[in-house]
Amino acid sequence: MKITNRHIRNFRTKVFAFYKTQGRDLPWRKTTDPYKILISEFMLQQTQVSRVIEYFGKWIKLWPTINHLARATRSEVLMAWMGLGYNTRAVNLHRAAKIIIKDYDSNVLEAVECYKEIAGIGEYTSRAVRIFAANADLVTVDTNIRRILIHEFRLSEDISGGALLSIAERCLPKGRSRKWHNALMDYGALYLTGTKTGIRPKTQQSTFFKGSDRQIRAHILRTLLLQTSSLSELYNTCSVEEKRLLRILDKMVHEQLIAIRNKRYQLKE
Ligand code: ADE
Repeated sequence: MKITNRHIRNFRTKVFAFYKTQGRDLPWRKTTDPYKILISEFMLQQTQVSRVIEYFGKWIKLWPTINHLARATRSEVLMAWMGLGYNTRAVNLHRAAKIIIKDYDSNVLEAVECYKEIAGIGEYTSRAVRIFAANADLVTVDTNIRRILIHEFRLSEDISGGALLSIAERCLPKGRSRKWHNALMDYGALYLTGTKTGIRPKTQQSTFFKGSDRQIRAHILRTLLLQTSSLSELYNTCSVEEKRLLRILDKMVHEQLIAIRNKRYQLKE
C-alpha cells in the first residue's frame, strides 16, 4: 500500500483527537526535566504504567536530581526499586547517574545523545528522553507505536526496524514531537490494543517469573540487601539445585552486582 500524504494527515488528526478527549494525565508528563524523564523511561521498560506511577513519585522524592541519585548507595537504590522487577535496571540507572555527573557535568540530555557508552540506555530510551524532555524532532518506536503503524498502514509484521522508523518519520508533525508521541502511546495503550489488532509484540518478554533465573536473582538480591549470606544459607532459602544456584551467583559476581568476602556473599557497592 502506498502511503499518501493525505492518509498521514488523517492519521494525525485521528490520533490527536483521541488524545484530546482520552489522553492520560501521567506524572512524568508534568515535567520536562530530562532526569525525571530518564527515570520514567527506565521504569517503563518492561513495566506497566499503573505500577510505575507509584514508584516514580517515590523515587523523585528520594532523589530529586541526578546528583542526589549518584550519591545514593546501591543498597538504597535497590531497596527503592524492590517490587518493580528486572532489578538490573536499577543498577544501570544508578551507574548511569554516576557517569552522567562525572563525564557529562550532570547534563542528562547531552549524555543520552552519546548513549552507547552507558549501559541500560539504548536507542529507544535515548530518543524518548530527547523527545519528552526537549520536544526534539525525532521519532521513537516502542511496541505500541509499532502496532499502530502496522495496523494503520497495513504493514507486514516482519517489517524491519529501519523501515518502521522511516514511516514514523513521515508521520511526525514537526515541532510537536512530545505531544505526538504521548498521543500515540495513549492511542496504542488504550484504544488500538494488541487484543484488538491481533498484532503481537516483536520481543515476547519472559512472562514466566516463577521458578525462573530472574526470580532466583531477585530472591538473592532481596536477601543480600538485608544481610550477607553464605552459600548454604542462600541454598536453604532458595529451593533450587546447588549447581544452578552457583551458576546464577557466578554470573551476578561477574556482573559486579554482588561480591564474595570471607566466603560470604554481599551486595557490591
Ligand atoms: N512507555 C514508554 N514510555 C512511555 C511514556 N512516556 N508514556 C507512556 N508509556 C510509555
